[in-house]
Amino acid sequence: MSKLTVRDLNVSGKKVIVRVDFNVPIKEGKIKDDNRIVGALPTINYLLENNAKVILLSHLGKVDHKDPVKNEADKIKNNLEPVSKRLAELVDAKVTFVPVTRGVELEEAVKNLKEKEIILVQNTRYEKGESKNDPELSAYWASLGDLFVTDAFGSVHRAHSSTVGIAEILPSALGFLVEKEVEALGKAINNPARPLVAILGGAKVSDKIAVIENLLNIADKVIIGGGMAYTFDVALGKKVGSSLLEEDKVQLAKEFIAKANGKIILPVDSIVANSFDNPTDIKVVEGDIEEGYLGLDIGPKSIELFKKELQGAKTVVWNGPMGVFEKPEFANGTIEVCKAIAELPECLSVIGGGDSASAAKNLGFKDKFSHISTGGGASLEFMEGKDLPGISVIKEK
Ligand code: 3PG
Repeated sequence: MSKLTVRDLNVSGKKVIVRVDFNVPIKEGKIKDDNRIVGALPTINYLLENNAKVILLSHLGKVDHKDPVKNEADKIKNNLEPVSKRLAELVDAKVTFVPVTRGVELEEAVKNLKEKEIILVQNTRYEKGESKNDPELSAYWASLGDLFVTDAFGSVHRAHSSTVGIAEILPSALGFLVEKEVEALGKAINNPARPLVAILGGAKVSDKIAVIENLLNIADKVIIGGGMAYTFDVALGKKVGSSLLEEDKVQLAKEFIAKANGKIILPVDSIVANSFDNPTDIKVVEGDIEEGYLGLDIGPKSIELFKKELQGAKTVVWNGPMGVFEKPEFANGTIEVCKAIAELPECLSVIGGGDSASAAKNLGFKDKFSHISTGGGASLEFMEGKDLPGISVIKEK
């Protein structure tokens, strides 16, 4: 990749606006997973070491701008302040949180910002214009800095003021996190060592249509597990009881199977239960699932099949769990697939963010993969082969 990176900018003494993705899970004021904050540290520390004045912008959650009551509630829920506290623990620099997204308080804070110090600005989505890439808002934020660095990989698929608008105005470059993500995902998707095996899971086919389409073109095998596999089962004429099913995607699943030329590998058995919320009867089923039961994980024979299909893979991309892994009774398929990928010798293993990334981390496999993406939607769109506006906007060297 030959895009400008932060190394190409002369940052000393400059006000550098950095778009980070600090959209992290927060419960009762406590950050549940700080990976995205940690992921941005190389860029932040580089800027501090090189005497920059660092102005961080990030969104957190979503903010409704239609209903005033929801707007207030969303703002309270998605206040970035807890993130600034965590950031202050992780960096050796003064961190000032500015609780607004525009106005005198922000402008004064920027004016008083010294080299080797950080400002974290309130959630960019407090601004109605953010998600619309509003030119006035982009120009206002750009006026606060000299340079712009995009390090929010999780948000590069969004053409917003803070991801694209500012970059169109200020001299801009990629941060280290985005550079690393693009390198790892790019190697896996655009230039893979073969065989390339893709493993897709998660609840719905509809969330992954474009990914399946793209991977069927480029991967040597596409293993499909999780809730979405049941729509494929129905396409093959199987009965799936009360399992997750997208009836309107059955025809599409048929087309995928026809076009895949044997590349699609589906589960051959399931762990089923009589209820999602209160499963009192859990069993392994091969073939049809009877009414009153729903599939919640792949079964032992599927695990063996998937392991066999993974043997010899030189590149693996994984997105989406194999079952309801949050519940211990239905986590085994995801755990075993995770283990199997982690143990493959000389294999570039990439997890495309989201639930499978949390699964790998929660299960203790964090360091066993070549790369775990910090992007959810962004990594999916990367795997779809789509243009990512937050990256395209950065100039080539
Ligand atoms: C994510 O969590 O995938 C990113 O932070 C993007 O969030 P968004 O889907 O709300 O834009």
